[in-house]
Amino acid sequence: METFRIAIAGFGGVGRATANLLLGRRARYRQLYGADVRLVAVCGSRAGLLDAGGLEADRLGALEPGQSGPAFIEASGADILIEAGPSDFRTGGPGLAYIRSALSAGRDTIVISKGALVHSGKQLLVLANDTGAMLKLSGAAAAALPTIDLVEHSLKGCEVLGVEGILNATTNYLLDAMMTKGIDFETALSEAQQGGFAEADPRNDTEGWDTACKLLILANFGLGADLTMDNLRVEGIQSVTRARLEAWRAEGVVPKLVGSLVRTNDTFEASVGIITYPLADPLANVRGKDKAIRIVTDAMGETVAIGSGREPLATAAAALKDLEHILAARSSARAPTKGQSS
Ligand code: HSE
Repeated sequence: METFRIAIAGFGGVGRATANLLLGRRARYRQLYGADVRLVAVCGSRAGLLDAGGLEADRLGALEPGQSGPAFIEASGADILIEAGPSDFRTGGPGLAYIRSALSAGRDTIVISKGALVHSGKQLLVLANDTGAMLKLSGAAAAALPTIDLVEHSLKGCEVLGVEGILNATTNYLLDAMMTKGIDFETALSEAQQGGFAEADPRNDTEGWDTACKLLILANFGLGADLTMDNLRVEGIQSVTRARLEAWRAEGVVPKLVGSLVRTNDTFEASVGIITYPLADPLANVRGKDKAIRIVTDAMGETVAIGSGREPLATAAAALKDLEHILAARSSARAPTKGQSS
């Protein structure tokens, strides 16, 4: 049986959920892919919170918090990196250093944080291509909601003409709570923070930046665009007034913060802003912290997906979907099973 050593960089809620889920699925990986998957290293400022009781000593070498990307990748001896730490879309850091180091060393890399992909997506793709490493990012593109998967697999063969995505749980929760429960912005935001889905700096959510990052990742990695933040018009929900909410109620429409792509020749026009939907529209009925996407294609019409996964479990599961794709590709490439030709 082939061994796959995994390191996780970033050990907050998502990193820990990913570790726990991975350890619970080791039998599945053995059975489905003939793969002995071992968690060999984690790093992050909260690595000390690791529940060592759940991890066998021979499967874990928790490294010193704060190690740099190259040092961590080198010391871990991992075959696959799961990058679950923070990364800022304006600088790419700190996650970018870990991702670059892993890809440069030819290690398959699963990226969960969005900033590095927004900042340096194209360079990371080139790097992965040069070293033969696989770069996967389901956890960074709205996680629980199928987005890139839909366009890469289910809708392959179509031309995508447009996308509308409710890609941010926090703003959907806020707008829904303000519209239907009549509670104010600050109260709804503090509920979203207590629920653990608002960003550490909630302006990333409320000003539309988190939606913009997810939209850009979908456009660039799923639809072959080459957009930067400079190409996006981004508006958030921070200045929605009580009067506007009342006007929408009176009109019988539902406001949503939406990331939109509209095909124009060989690229897309991208924007983030509030769109109001009539009650009969499926997107009007995306409640609470659920997310949704509508994709319009030339040949298969409209597809709508709604995701309601619990975080951080849903993001962890999205990252481990990527892991399964890597195991499927690598284990058959390295060790063909009976009946397969090489
Ligand atoms: N803050 C994000 C959201 C979760 O509300 O959807 C991480 O992407």
